[in-house]
Amino acid sequence: MTTAYIEDIAKHEGQQVRLRGWLHNRRSSGKIHFLTVRDGSGFIQCVMSKQAVGEEMFKRADHLTQESAIIVEGTARADSRAPGGYEVDVTSLEIVSEAKDYPITPKEHGVDYLMDRRHLWIRSQRQQAILRVRHEVINGVRDFFNGRGFILADTPIFTPAACEGTTTLFPVQYFEDATAYLTQSGQLYNEANAMALGRVYSFGPTFRAEKSKTRRHLTEFWMVEPEMAYATLDDVMQLAEDLVVYVVGRALEHRKRELQALERDTSKLEKVQAPFPRISYDEAAEILRKKGLPFEWGGDFGAPDETALSEEFDRPICVHRYPSAVKAFYMKPDPDRPEVALGVDVLAPEGYGEIIGGGERLADYDLLLQRIKEHNLPQEAFEWYLDLRRYGTVAHGGFGMGIERVVSWICGLEHLREAIPYPRMLYRLYP
Ligand code: 4AD
Ligand code: MG
Repeated sequence: MTTAYIEDIAKHEGQQVRLRGWLHNRRSSGKIHFLTVRDGSGFIQCVMSKQAVGEEMFKRADHLTQESAIIVEGTARADSRAPGGYEVDVTSLEIVSEAKDYPITPKEHGVDYLMDRRHLWIRSQRQQAILRVRHEVINGVRDFFNGRGFILADTPIFTPAACEGTTTLFPVQYFEDATAYLTQSGQLYNEANAMALGRVYSFGPTFRAEKSKTRRHLTEFWMVEPEMAYATLDDVMQLAEDLVVYVVGRALEHRKRELQALERDTSKLEKVQAPFPRISYDEAAEILRKKGLPFEWGGDFGAPDETALSEEFDRPICVHRYPSAVKAFYMKPDPDRPEVALGVDVLAPEGYGEIIGGGERLADYDLLLQRIKEHNLPQEAFEWYLDLRRYGTVAHGGFGMGIERVVSWICGLEHLREAIPYPRMLYRLYP
């Protein structure tokens, strides 16, 4: 007897197979049990008739509870009405372990209730679909960079100083008398890595002590960050566009079933094709003014502004040249207009807002030192970073793309918390 995974069931049509999984749902009618079995790779209906399995085995399934671990043997049969196209006619059932009073039933539960049971909630069909899309996004990102000659060079999580402003730093006691901070971004180290290896990327968890409760912010999120030596803002925008088109394409190609389970309108995702509109901050501000939003030149876009902007387009947009004052210390000012910085944000359509932030870096030693001082950053902690400008400095740039923001957009989620197995937020540290 072959042990099979549900996702491979088509290969076993007409054959006897053994499925090892859990009971997701059960319906019974006098002489037949309809068991929906899940094994992590999918869900399938197993049809168990009294006639086929005998009185005693049939009876054992009478009170079989949701999430009990079971091993089912039977014949795989094509059925055009079945969601996955196949069913299994059961010949034998083994109960591996019974689950008592599984707390997540098919009835509606509140979000807090589910979040407290996140370790179980991820067994649901919807959550599994999301995590599979996440897996695809991550693999897509890796394949994209690996296929283009980028070297994965890791960056530290314990860092001595801020990268993205001092207000969202998480301090950690580092032995007796030092404080470390959980990294907000691997960028500064990526810049050093790029000067060594040319084109690099880092991919890992990043941390922000975000005190706000929004649907777009986690305190721990995954970010992929490419960095390129000898690159300008235009190169950075091109790379960002290529990456987003590729990743969305991968999800559409490989995760149709999951997107369908999520009832995602994939026609919206099909439109994610190059070229993305490139609009300056000034133009974006003008659009917001015309739409009647109370937006003043000089500020950063808030979530409602980003939503309003992205609603104007059917694909992601690159917004470039933000006022230097609202952006990080490392951004290069536009030589033609120093009050704006050569940075870019990519905003996703359908109101999903910023998925990518990056730009060209300040490569000039004197100006960088001045910025570090203006931002009241401790110069000692940045000496190594200044070294990059002392020894063979060149134009360079890159960006960071938040994985949960992208997953949330591709899956059409309302909130980032479902886009990661165990979300960390202001009031959420358990489980
Ligand atoms: O725009 P951010 O802050 O840019 C940087 O950190 C740069 N140092 C990256 C770089 O150039 N290498 O963050 C980049 C992206 C955002 O566009 C967003 O997708 C995501 O990271 N992000 C968050 N995702 C979830 N929760 C949060 N609190 C996030 N903050 C940023
Ligand atoms: Mg940003």
